[in-house]
Amino acid sequence: MPLVTTKEMFRKAYEGKYAIGAFNVNNMEIIQGIVEAAKEAKAPLILQVSAGARQYANSNYLIKLVEAALLDAPELDIALHLDHGDSFEICKQCIDDGFTSVMIDGSHLPYEENIALTKQVVDYAHSKGVTVEAELGRLAGVEDAVNVSAEDATYTNPDQALDFVTRTGCDSLAVAIGTSHGAYKFKGEPKLDIPRLQRIQELLPGFPIVLHGASSVVPEFVEMNNEYGGEIPGARGVPEELIKEATKYGVCKVNIDSDLRLAMTGVIRKELHNNPGNFDPRKYLGPARTAIKEMVKHKIYNVLGNNDKL
Ligand code: G3H
Ligand code: 13P
Ligand code: ZN
Repeated sequence: MPLVTTKEMFRKAYEGKYAIGAFNVNNMEIIQGIVEAAKEAKAPLILQVSAGARQYANSNYLIKLVEAALLDAPELDIALHLDHGDSFEICKQCIDDGFTSVMIDGSHLPYEENIALTKQVVDYAHSKGVTVEAELGRLAGVEDAVNVSAEDATYTNPDQALDFVTRTGCDSLAVAIGTSHGAYKFKGEPKLDIPRLQRIQELLPGFPIVLHGASSVVPEFVEMNNEYGGEIPGARGVPEELIKEATKYGVCKVNIDSDLRLAMTGVIRKELHNNPGNFDPRKYLGPARTAIKEMVKHKIYNVLGNNDKL
């Protein structure tokens, strides 16, 4: 099976009130762990590549690894998605390279400029059969080299969301309702603005909504990192019940990166600590790959609900 777009995936997810996990990929072990989990859970899957990932691994390697995953799991529905594209050029490059979905993130731009840029990407992407995710509102947190402070974060205005989607023709929309990127999401009580999400859904019935910054920062792995030499005190994510609740109100795509990073790094720290004589990377990358797989299975079964949906 070739790579698929997100169109049909989202249609089914919306109707079934579940979400598709969009997991960030940076190397072979991460891709293999995620794909193994999706295979076992029979879950449709989005593999997403950020600008940082393209720079780190070289986009061609990641594309070939994803193609290899498809050879290994031909029964899977996999979309290859550009995460946080910040220009028409990067979106065009990915579309021309075979990505089936792109995000154009104009959320930092003035409203009319975000519309114009998104529309330009939509026109090109749709002419090639590729789906487009856009973003309106600003999340707090760290993404690539950009750090948005909580004060600069702006929640998505539902009326503006309707206008934005109508005028750009984008296929899905990332909204800001309280999630944020990275491992330090909340200082006080974690909460999401579910009434705002409900209002967006009312105004845009049937339209797929995307949640970025949706890692839960699973305490078990924060503790594992800290126990074996890491220093990430006070890391805190979005409780999984809140993400689960959001999937009932039109959220069809849930972005997860930090939870994979924490699981992978925690296990590598532990393996190196427990086996100081080892210098064979396979002996710590293997367990790290298994930790990625277990994390993704946990998300599929306990948070996203997209198991057995192929
Ligand atoms: O939204 C950001 C993702 O976690 C990707 O992070 O830009 O460091 O690859 P990155
Ligand atoms: P987390 O940092 O919560 O994993 O969010 C990842 C993300 O939104 C990627 O676009
Ligand atoms: Zn994001």
